[in-house]
Amino acid sequence: MLTDAIKTYQQRVDQVLGQKLTHFDETAPTLKAAMIHGALLGGKRIRPFLVYSIGQMLNVPLTILDNLAAAIECIHAYSLIHDDLPAMDNDSLRRGQPTVHIAFDEANAILAGDALQALAFDIISEPIDGLTPSQQLAIVKSLAKASGYQGMCGGQAIDLSATDKHIELAKLTELHNKKTGALICCAVEMALIAANVPDNEYQALMVYAGKIGLAFQVQDDILDIVASTEELGKPQGSDEQSNKSTFPKLLGLEGAKQTSQQLVDDALSELTKLPYNSQLIADFARYIIVRRI
Ligand code: IPE
Ligand code: IPE
Ligand code: MG
Ligand code: MG
Ligand code: MG
Repeated sequence: MLTDAIKTYQQRVDQVLGQKLTHFDETAPTLKAAMIHGALLGGKRIRPFLVYSIGQMLNVPLTILDNLAAAIECIHAYSLIHDDLPAMDNDSLRRGQPTVHIAFDEANAILAGDALQALAFDIISEPIDGLTPSQQLAIVKSLAKASGYQGMCGGQAIDLSATDKHIELAKLTELHNKKTGALICCAVEMALIAANVPDNEYQALMVYAGKIGLAFQVQDDILDIVASTEELGKPQGSDEQSNKSTFPKLLGLEGAKQTSQQLVDDALSELTKLPYNSQLIADFARYIIVRRI
């Protein structure tokens, strides 16, 4: 059931994103191709999965969720394109393909990231049938916060400053919560705003999101060590080579695995507070720490 749902939603968001991107004229064909390369060639689409699965659990129409899912994936794709740049992680493989700055060039990779970020806000600020302007404004705000200084970009900056250094667990947790947790929380939050859920359900689902968001990055750190380049579609050992601050580095592989297991247990216990059938998102939480890609 989980595998099928992941695949269905993956295909759905790919189609929405594909339409948005191929719709652009050919004024800047290299930039357009770089955006398509960075956004459409593979990817698990786990942030769209959260938008769709939580939105559907709360009876939000799929046509609304399409926009939210496409927008969050644009931000994620942009973050990966920039993350791989020579000035950041300097990686040349992503999703089994050359990274955007390798397939094209650095200037177009920078611009592709910039333009995907703008496209995300374009998508969610266009009137969406079934959402009020104030709901849409709250969604725009949520995505802006999760992407910028207080979220992903801030986390990436801490990541860079924590390279070649020892940092304490609290700082590493903050780093991971921001660089990766923020967008995962935002995927959930956008669906909750669209659904207009009561406060107590909002709280429980946002705690769930925070726990799985952190677990997701801890597992990403673990996979950098235990998975192969072929499985990952990105270079195994990149963190070690760059001397990054990661959970396995600080706590050891076993310690990191225990942390991610605890986070998933905590996420699951939040779901028991909800009056819905949350089987799918419970399975998703368990999947996060057993995945190999
Ligand atoms: C990789 O994200 C970078 C992190 C934030 C951990 P994903 O593992 O979601 O990458 P794709 O989109 O599936 O390639
Ligand atoms: C990236 O973290 C988080 C982002 C905000 C893109 P990583 O640098 O560990 O992601 P990968 O391993 O390159 O996908
Ligand atoms: Mg990085
Ligand atoms: Mg990286
Ligand atoms: Mg990584």
